[in-house]
Amino acid sequence: MLSEITIRNLRNITDESFVPVTGINLLVGPNGAGKTSVLEAIHLLGLGRTFRSRALKNAIQFDKQQLQVVAKTIQNKMPIGLQYSAEAGLEIRFNNAPLKKLSDLAAQLPLQLIPANSHQFFEQGPRFRRQLLDWGLFHVEPSFNFHWQSYKKVLQQRNASIRQKKNFKEIQLWDQHLIEHGNQLTDLRKKRLDTILKQFEFYFKLVCPQFENSKLSLKYKTGWSREITFEESIKLNIERDYQLGYTRSGAHAADWSFKIDEYEAKDVFSRGQQKLFFLALSMAQIKSSEATNKPKGILLIDDLSSELDEIHLEIILRQLNTMPVQIFISSTDESLVALVNKIENNYALFHVKHGQIIPKQI
Ligand SMILES: Nc1ncnc2c1ncn2[C@@H]1O[C@H](COP(=O)(O)OP(=O)(O)OP(=O)(O)O)[C@@H](O)[C@H]1O
Ligand SMILES: [Mg+2]
Repeated sequence: MLSEITIRNLRNITDESFVPVTGINLLVGPNGAGKTSVLEAIHLLGLGRTFRSRALKNAIQFDKQQLQVVAKTIQNKMPIGLQYSAEAGLEIRFNNAPLKKLSDLAAQLPLQLIPANSHQFFEQGPRFRRQLLDWGLFHVEPSFNFHWQSYKKVLQQRNASIRQKKNFKEIQLWDQHLIEHGNQLTDLRKKRLDTILKQFEFYFKLVCPQFENSKLSLKYKTGWSREITFEESIKLNIERDYQLGYTRSGAHAADWSFKIDEYEAKDVFSRGQQKLFFLALSMAQIKSSEATNKPKGILLIDDLSSELDEIHLEIILRQLNTMPVQIFISSTDESLVALVNKIENNYALFHVKHGQIIPKQI
């Protein structure tokens, strides 16, 4: 959890500091005010990348050279600082020492984002859903990062051999490691999905009471044909991969789907339901990571009010209130403040206007 956040030269925010509470932090203001930019700054601190544009340089304020985000952790007052410029790239300091690996940063600050387009959850590509699953694994399963990093490396090398038109024997030199790590990843992800399902079912039925009596299932799609093993798939498809110029099947192409009774959620869900689904899933992730003795986390929710009516908003806020994480919520909707006020004591309100972050007495 963070205290004292300072943001410099990030989008329309020039130099602003604010002190969040450990509960719910509301960022309210008009369109283009800088609310999402505040979330972007915190996301940068937690993951070393932005969720908005491909290139971080777009986040640097026009005509400025570098952006900076600094904060302290509440638990032990350790400073985290991050700066980025096109010349020097990304520099991160944790507790006054430089951090080399981004994954070290992510491990220190478990952070989840519910983006403004979460009502299009099932219209997004599989990468988005995979990342969601992997987020939980990264934080609760110590061996996950090793298998994932190893898998990625071997995959890159295999793909490089394919592109260089090496002969099949040379390409296949990579297969054994790819299969080993790929199978491990598959097992971990399947298990994780089973674990989440129990928590998820609880939250989803709470936030979407109309599905109270439905049967829910989350199904993992391995990333290769269902009838065969990964090993068989890799062997069988070498010619196809050669033609395509890359390894098509494997854990990197995995996805998962959600069924409600006999229907695929993506075929029957409304926008609001997709958003509620995402919110319930994020809460399930938080709850099923809780027992791991990790530092408590941060939840960023961009544009909470959109697509949700007041009844569902209230149910969501009541549940968020029970989450053991620090929450930052952005909204253009002033009436959200009254709703939060009704439910929660540990909250703070910030008005965001023309890139300024102004704390409001409540
Ligand atoms: N690199 C940049 N330098 C300066 N300003 C920028 C830069 N990139 C974006 N902006 C501006 O920063 C402002 C903040 O945008 P942001 O997305 O944070 O607003 P918001 O409060 O979330 O608005 P909305 O309610 O519409 O989502 C916008 O006016 C945008 O045009
Ligand atoms: Mg926004």
